[in-house]
Amino acid sequence: MKLSVVGCGYLGAVHAAAMASIGHDVVGIDVDERKIESLSAGRAPFFEPGLAEILTEGIESGRLRFSTDMADAAGAQVHFIGVGTPQVKDGYAADMTYVNAAVDALLPHLSPGDVVAGKSTVPVGTAAALAERVDPTGATLVWNPEFLREGWAVQDTIDPDRLVAGVPEGPEGLRAAQVLRDVYHPSVAKGTPFLVMDRATAELVKVSANAFLATKISFINAMAEIAEVTGADVTQLADAIGYDDRIGRKFLGAGIGFGGGCLPKDIRAFSARAEELGRGESVAFLREVDEINLRRRERAVQLVVEGLGGQVFEKNVTVLGAAFKPHSDDIRDSPALDVAVRLHGLGANVTVTDPAAINNARRVHPQLTYVEDRDLALTGADAVILVTEWDEYRRELDPTHASTLAAGRVVVDGRNGLDAAAWRAAGWTYLGMGRP
Ligand code: UDX
Repeated sequence: MKLSVVGCGYLGAVHAAAMASIGHDVVGIDVDERKIESLSAGRAPFFEPGLAEILTEGIESGRLRFSTDMADAAGAQVHFIGVGTPQVKDGYAADMTYVNAAVDALLPHLSPGDVVAGKSTVPVGTAAALAERVDPTGATLVWNPEFLREGWAVQDTIDPDRLVAGVPEGPEGLRAAQVLRDVYHPSVAKGTPFLVMDRATAELVKVSANAFLATKISFINAMAEIAEVTGADVTQLADAIGYDDRIGRKFLGAGIGFGGGCLPKDIRAFSARAEELGRGESVAFLREVDEINLRRRERAVQLVVEGLGGQVFEKNVTVLGAAFKPHSDDIRDSPALDVAVRLHGLGANVTVTDPAAINNARRVHPQLTYVEDRDLALTGADAVILVTEWDEYRRELDPTHASTLAAGRVVVDGRNGLDAAAWRAAGWTYLGMGRP
């Protein structure tokens, strides 16, 4: 099928390349010339395992190309909208500028029978409003949310755990759902659940999924706070409640909490939208979820201060990690970098290392010192704090080896990812999150 993907950021670039890899003829469109140049040369503008390979393969096969000209979308049967919906500068709501601009620019190039499939995470009600603009062209607007995780984006796009199609009522909607089934044919054929619903439900599915995940993380972090005043161990607690399959162990990793380009802004936008709808109280708990999450960053800083005997001024602190999570170079709303910046603010000599995110981090926080080599970064440290659980730190850093590099013996485990017993055995004072 001929497809266009409008917006070539995280979501759009991966979607375009993944659709080409399953056999479609795809054009990716973005207003950012540098991004288009990079993608056209087969270079992923961000770190995402497997993306460069499917980009190159798609371009070489002739099935994938990129353009800054919206007119190149003409002739595609399905137009995916994958532009960003960041948090507005002066509030909690989602900034809809890019979605509106993308749809407006697409309108002159639509033909009757085309399907416009929104993938961006949007406030519920957006699709209904956009449909008023799309309907006169004879195209059909549907909502087809995306659930990809950074670091697993290619796999999540090619082989998702479910597909959601929010369509208008009647034969037009049923036809559009069939068009989406055809787009995702390999997944549909292998039995991946394909759920057809109305557009408002589809929009809500996405935000409620992210709200649930954020709540799960803040729940366990709230338990960590209680554990801290009772001497309990939140990691054992998580294991024990996680065996109940109604609860499940996933997303019960207590630590410095969630960040990234999705969960924080999505729960805030959800709160803002619920307020607009007069139902703010229904998701009032999301404010609490956000606050618990932000408190944990401060707790990690406090542990470093305590570990260093009450003050960090002019002490060397090595921060292991900058990305908001491993397998990503994304530093948007990164709890890891926030912890580093807070320590720097307290007067510590902060050295940050990360296998992928240093360049991005340096651009935003040039005041911190960045060292690419892990062992060099550890050299002379009075305290070490793990904030992104890359394997390089969690599994591959031997505490005895670390002892030969660092000056002090204080390690704070901001992700509860280290082997506490091994670090203690090597002579370190190990301080975890919500652990004795
Ligand atoms: C998330 C959703 O998982 C995905 O479905 C959606 O499409 C986009 O938002 P992503 O932002 O890539 O994906 O990250 P995710 O893997 O969900 O992690 C989010 C944050 O939560 C990270 O900062 C991670 O470190 C943190 N986290 C995750 C925890 O603190 N504890 C956990 O147990 C799990």
